[in-house]
Amino acid sequence: MKLVLRDLAQLATPAGPDAPLRGAALGDVDVIEDAFVLCDGDTIEAVGRMSDLPALDGDVSELDGRGLCAVPGLVDCHTHAAFGGDRVEEFSLRAGGASYEELHAAGGGILSTVRATRALGEDGLRAAVEQHRDWMRAAGTTTFEAKSGYGLDKETELASLWAIRDAGGVPTWLGAHAVPPEFADADAYLDFALVEVLPDAAEIAEAADAFLERGAFDASQARRYLEACRDAGLALRLHGDQFTESGAIPLAIELGARSVDHLETTGEGGIKALATSDVTGVLLPASALFLDRPMPPARALVDAGAAVALATDFNPGSAFTESLPLVCSLACTQLHLSPAEALGACTVNAAHVLGRGDRIGRLAPGYRADITLLDAPDWRYLAYHLGAPVVSRVVVDGELA
Ligand code: NIG
Ligand code: FE
Repeated sequence: MKLVLRDLAQLATPAGPDAPLRGAALGDVDVIEDAFVLCDGDTIEAVGRMSDLPALDGDVSELDGRGLCAVPGLVDCHTHAAFGGDRVEEFSLRAGGASYEELHAAGGGILSTVRATRALGEDGLRAAVEQHRDWMRAAGTTTFEAKSGYGLDKETELASLWAIRDAGGVPTWLGAHAVPPEFADADAYLDFALVEVLPDAAEIAEAADAFLERGAFDASQARRYLEACRDAGLALRLHGDQFTESGAIPLAIELGARSVDHLETTGEGGIKALATSDVTGVLLPASALFLDRPMPPARALVDAGAAVALATDFNPGSAFTESLPLVCSLACTQLHLSPAEALGACTVNAAHVLGRGDRIGRLAPGYRADITLLDAPDWRYLAYHLGAPVVSRVVVDGELA
């Protein structure tokens, strides 16, 4: 079945065929005015100016794109969408001055979401992930990664990964997120996770992730966890430099991780090391905003030649937002990226982090027919219209959703 989106005010897509985009190439966006996109099943067949639209015969559905702009379906490469409950009480306490790390150390924070997630059961978890997927889709996200990490027992970790996969997400096993209360320390918990959970998790997930941070897992514990996961066939991710520089960037580079994520405290040495590596820096400015933390050094990373991606970090504690358009606004106003750089960072570069940079993240022939339609006269409203419901609708796998 073919689908044509016609008379679009504009179409904007990262230029060229490369992934990831680095340096000046990240800001290179092709813009077509008065455009069409032709999809054949789940694949884009052609894009161009309306004057070049070929004659279409047979069964073709049409969408009138007047007043709309098309960009590639947005890719959220870092979310924690498998959770139960909320942290609105903690949010209020933080508004009154309590710190995120203090709440975590007192058994609140991540561990309070662990209690709520364990209580959901398998069906409840599925319903939660589907609801979160639908929120993300309404905000323009057509591909999402989601991590487990709020179960931290075998049953709930595996149920989380299945719920993510069955909702169409890309599952990451965040087995090293926090130490659950039934274990004396991080090493005892890892003994359990790597023997009891890893063999099954590796069958469901595509990647593994660890929270390398003061109060969570240290560099040698993160190394032990990630090496075992790599040996089981998983790609590697790493939460690092969120509150302290604790060796995440060198570890990610040494282990050949796909990404190191957060980077709010990364200094000059880390920027240089990342720039000359194949590891992508995933920047999460909504999390920095939500926790009132410093913003990551995005401009310096891009200028030094590092590959960067943008993501929401959607979770109930440190970033309760599913909106990549909001993240693009923060990228332009707080990280000093251009709208074009922000677009590349949450499309093709984010797809690269998920191992899909050759098929997802561009509006070009052969790419997957995932399209986000903006209710706007110029595609840069994606970042410009702060906090607005700028997404009109999405096409996922060639189907209007
Ligand atoms: O990426 N920093 C660790 N994990 C999440 C937050 C999880 C939570 O607060 O529930 C993050 O920010
Ligand atoms: Fe995170």
